Amino acid sequence: MKMEKYLLVLFLCVNLCFIGVNARFFKVPWSRRHKGISALGDPGMKRDGLRIAFEAWNNCNGVAHEAPDTGSPRAADCFDVSRNLTLLHRVSESDNKLGIGKKFNGLSAEALYDPNLYAIEKELYLGSLCEVSKSSKPWQFLKTSKPWQFWMVMLKSGNFDTKAGLCPENGKPKPAPINTTMNFPCFGEGCMNQPTLNHQPTQLLADGTMKGWFNGTYDLDADIGNGLANISFYEVAWEKKLGFGRWVFKHKLKTSIKYPWLMLYLRADATKGFSGGYPYETRGMLHTLPRTNFKVKFSLEIKKGGGPQSQFYLLDIGSCWKNNGKPCDGDVLTDVTRYSEMIINPDVPAWCSPTQLVNCPPYHITPNNTKILRNDTANFPYGAYHYYCAPGNAKYLEEPVSLCDPYSNPQAQEIVQLLPHPIWGEYGYPTEKGQGWIGDPRTWVLDTGGLASRLYFYQDPDTLPAKRKWTSIDVGTEIFVSDKEEEAEWSLSDFDVILL
Ligand SMILES: *[C@@H]1O[C@H](CO)[C@@H](O)[C@H](O)[C@H]1NC(C)=O
Ligand SMILES: *[C@@H]1O[C@H](CO)[C@@H](O)[C@H](O)[C@H]1NC(C)=O
Ligand SMILES: *[C@@H]1O[C@H](CO)[C@@H](O)[C@H](O)[C@H]1NC(C)=O
Ligand SMILES: *[C@@H]1O[C@H](CO)[C@@H](O)[C@H](O)[C@H]1NC(C)=O
Ligand SMILES: *[C@@H]1O[C@H](CO)[C@@H](O)[C@H](O)[C@H]1NC(C)=O
Ligand SMILES: *[C@@H]1O[C@H](CO)[C@@H](O)[C@H](O)[C@H]1NC(C)=O
Repeated sequence: MKMEKYLLVLFLCVNLCFIGVNARFFKVPWSRRHKGISALGDPGMKRDGLRIAFEAWNNCNGVAHEAPDTGSPRAADCFDVSRNLTLLHRVSESDNKLGIGKKFNGLSAEALYDPNLYAIEKELYLGSLCEVSKSSKPWQFLKTSKPWQFWMVMLKSGNFDTKAGLCPENGKPKPAPINTTMNFPCFGEGCMNQPTLNHQPTQLLADGTMKGWFNGTYDLDADIGNGLANISFYEVAWEKKLGFGRWVFKHKLKTSIKYPWLMLYLRADATKGFSGGYPYETRGMLHTLPRTNFKVKFSLEIKKGGGPQSQFYLLDIGSCWKNNGKPCDGDVLTDVTRYSEMIINPDVPAWCSPTQLVNCPPYHITPNNTKILRNDTANFPYGAYHYYCAPGNAKYLEEPVSLCDPYSNPQAQEIVQLLPHPIWGEYGYPTEKGQGWIGDPRTWVLDTGGLASRLYFYQDPDTLPAKRKWTSIDVGTEIFVSDKEEEAEWSLSDFDVILL
């Protein structure tokens, strides 16, 4: 004990002296002082005491109706490892089962019987149980540590009942029935239900492996114990040796005829404020929001691709800003979700082409900052873009243009979807179809900041460029309306976001 105190004093002195010297003699800019620092609470997924949460969304990122006996579709598995090597769980199964009508600390009266508001507040509550606010390393105790909460498993069904009146149109309330030419999947009343959720809280096995999972199905009447034929299924299982290596997150996603459009991602979301796709406070893992100078590192092994409709996102980045470049403030009529995704399924073609400029962004910017217009057929890299769509509330769009789906987000959205192509090589992204796909597991180090700062995103003329801050960074797949049952399976590890 005495020795420990002595060491602590020593650390204190060394740190203070160093800080003193640092402050007096070197005026290093903030960005350079933080070179190589992680933006995440758990850099590289190495922390034994895991923090992971689960969220399920309907087509427009809401809840609408909770699934029977499941509670609100938010849950978490967060624990610390005690000195005697037991896992001390911070979230109980009764916390995970909380649903409308059940009170918890901090719940507002208006949310008590509102499934959408309840889920938002439950996420904040789970975040408060899981929050890590101090560094676990004694020698780092002088560093300002920013609180962080959890990795987020996000599950979403694209089923959309145009007669149910559950989703706004570009953020505006829209009475049912909606008259749209878009062909949304829906088997009939109740097609936008929430899934079942089974949870195995993380256990420490005799061989020193820690293991746990979330799984379930959208087919509420099915018994997943009797095999998965004809039913939808999702699972995320995590595993790590205590004291060694890193967490590996093993994902499975299966569509069915009734649920042909499903998404499953592992997200690093902002620890406060809005993350990609929400007009309200969320909790997450990104304690510092990356802007232009950052890299994203992770290891990805894809075992099953999920069929030709599976838009497997090597990386998906999300944020929010207004068309005038100002940051989002929760006003769903003017806030716009911005997404960009690198799709690595080699079956997904470029819809953008010299004869389909409607699917291309107005221009491309090269790594040396040369702008190439999409009608410059000799130079525009058509094969690098799967699809571009513009926000439905943009007023000064350049024709021809395709507008993004106005329903599948609580506000208008803009999406830039990329495909492997030599022009992305400079940023460490795949340059050829098939790279990183089945049979080619890789560890990627992506210059996401460099690429994202050169992507086209719409802005009103003569407005100051938006400060692009990425509030969600994730990996996973969107099986975009399969015509038969499809299955995807992959594992993800080593995830980090490094500020340069
Ligand atoms: C291990 O430690 C925790 C608290 O640190 C305590 O609650 C638990 O009973 C201990 N378990 C054993 C087996 O000693
Ligand atoms: C739905 O839209 C189509 C084409 O835009 C139009 O012809 C039709 O009259 C509309 N139906 C209703 C009920 O508004
Ligand atoms: C899903 O979770 C349940 C309950 O934890 C478990 O029994 C089952 O093996 C898991 N996987 C499948 C495919 O059902
Ligand atoms: C799945 O559906 C097919 C076609 O409807 C049917 O022939 C088959 O028996 C079903 N399988 C199970 C296990 O229910
Ligand atoms: C920028 O790169 C392109 C090829 O990508 C090249 O043709 C062009 O000359 C370069 N421009 C400058 C200013 O270096
Ligand atoms: C290409 O598009 C720009 C507008 O983006 C236009 O000014 C120019 O005339 C077009 N060039 C050709 C050859 O069509």
